[in-house]
Amino acid sequence: MPQPYVLLSAAVSLDGYLDDTGPERLLLSNPADFDRVDEVRAASDAILVGAGTLRTDNPRLLVNSPERRATRVAAGLPEYPLKVTVSASGDLDPAAQFWHTGGEKVVYTTDRGAERLRGAGLPTGPTGVAVVSLGPAPEWPALLDHLGDVRGIRRLMVEGGGLVHTQLLQQGLADELLLAVAPVFVGEADAPRMLGTGAYPGGPRSRLRLLETRPVGDVVLIRYAPTVPGTGRAVSAADRHWLALACELAAECPPSRTAFSVGAVVVAEDGTELARGHSREDGDPVVHAEEAALAKLDPADPRLASATVYSSLEPCAHRASRPAPCARLVLDAGVRRVVTAWREPDTFVEDAAVGNAVLSAEGAEVVVLPEYEERAKAPNRHVVG
Ligand SMILES: NC(=O)c1ccc[n+]([C@@H]2O[C@H](COP(=O)([O-])OP(=O)(O)OC[C@H]3O[C@@H](n4cnc5c(N)ncnc54)[C@H](OP(=O)(O)O)[C@@H]3O)[C@@H](O)[C@H]2O)c1
Ligand SMILES: [Zn+2]
Repeated sequence: MPQPYVLLSAAVSLDGYLDDTGPERLLLSNPADFDRVDEVRAASDAILVGAGTLRTDNPRLLVNSPERRATRVAAGLPEYPLKVTVSASGDLDPAAQFWHTGGEKVVYTTDRGAERLRGAGLPTGPTGVAVVSLGPAPEWPALLDHLGDVRGIRRLMVEGGGLVHTQLLQQGLADELLLAVAPVFVGEADAPRMLGTGAYPGGPRSRLRLLETRPVGDVVLIRYAPTVPGTGRAVSAADRHWLALACELAAECPPSRTAFSVGAVVVAEDGTELARGHSREDGDPVVHAEEAALAKLDPADPRLASATVYSSLEPCAHRASRPAPCARLVLDAGVRRVVTAWREPDTFVEDAAVGNAVLSAEGAEVVVLPEYEERAKAPNRHVVG
């Protein structure tokens, strides 16, 4: 199962704060908007908050409407969405309402945090708490992989706080931003902000794509989709899943000192995997990943025109070993969308990073997701250091 669709939900003051500095939680929304949040929760498979929010707000994170819960049950879903939190420290109060209300819960933590939490007396049983260590640090891609693959979560609603929202947005892992802007000023410099400083994908002036605006009483609901730099297109959870798979396939290549290890997957518009390949597969010493994958398909397959090629490395544009470079093969196959993780360095040919330009020049959409670059490079450390 791919990583879930990630929806970041928050109520913000007009001056961009999530809360004030007082001990009580600041209620920014109005009753109609709290009911709207309940509706979004009911339509989610899981709800996540950071440990900071658990400690400050002591939230229950329930679907409050009995009708909505009944609808979930009638659809074969658990009565309540899975409740998820993330804590590096494991410093969580076992008496918090989060653990003792609703359905199943999972806490993602570190080895150190897990040790602390396993002795903390958290509830067990069918609606108890699963403690999952993600190793030395709870990295978001690993957390989302676990939610998708192991828990089968397709739609994840994230309800803060600021650190969690900022990290997910900055790492390019959010599919949607759902803001309720409340006509309230907080005006305190030390109050928690919705979003922190740092680099956001696309740089400081990139614009998000507006999906919807709607008044809910005196609050305005705004839905934005973060976009891939330079394209105006949202990064979908499926894009990340398939690119991650391409990076995994790269690790299956027989190592070479004279060529990169690359993985590629061809995926139809409806999400069906059409073919996959990796460099030097089946004993062919010169075959490239995209070439190997495309060779498995009937060139007349009508699904190719709306398919996407996911390649861990930018498709090549110069090639000594075969007459056609991969950028050409992709275009000739009729594919018009490529998602890749890593621009080609000049390790083996000069001015290598032109494959994306060749593709764009002929009308293909090229999306680069740099957050996967390290995974794409990993099986090539012996040639790129
Ligand atoms: N207005 C709204 O809609 C809304 C919604 C939610 C929250 N809030 C407000 O937001 C504030 C809390 O926000 P916050 O930024 O302080 O906290 P937060 O984002 O809820 O949680 C931060 C904590 O989560 C853990 N964490 C998150 N990402 C991690 C990562 N990648 N690696 C390791 N640990 C990670 C850490 O826990 P450990 O410290 O345990 O390691 C970290 O301290 C509160 O004032 C709350 O009222 C407002
Ligand atoms: Zn190639």
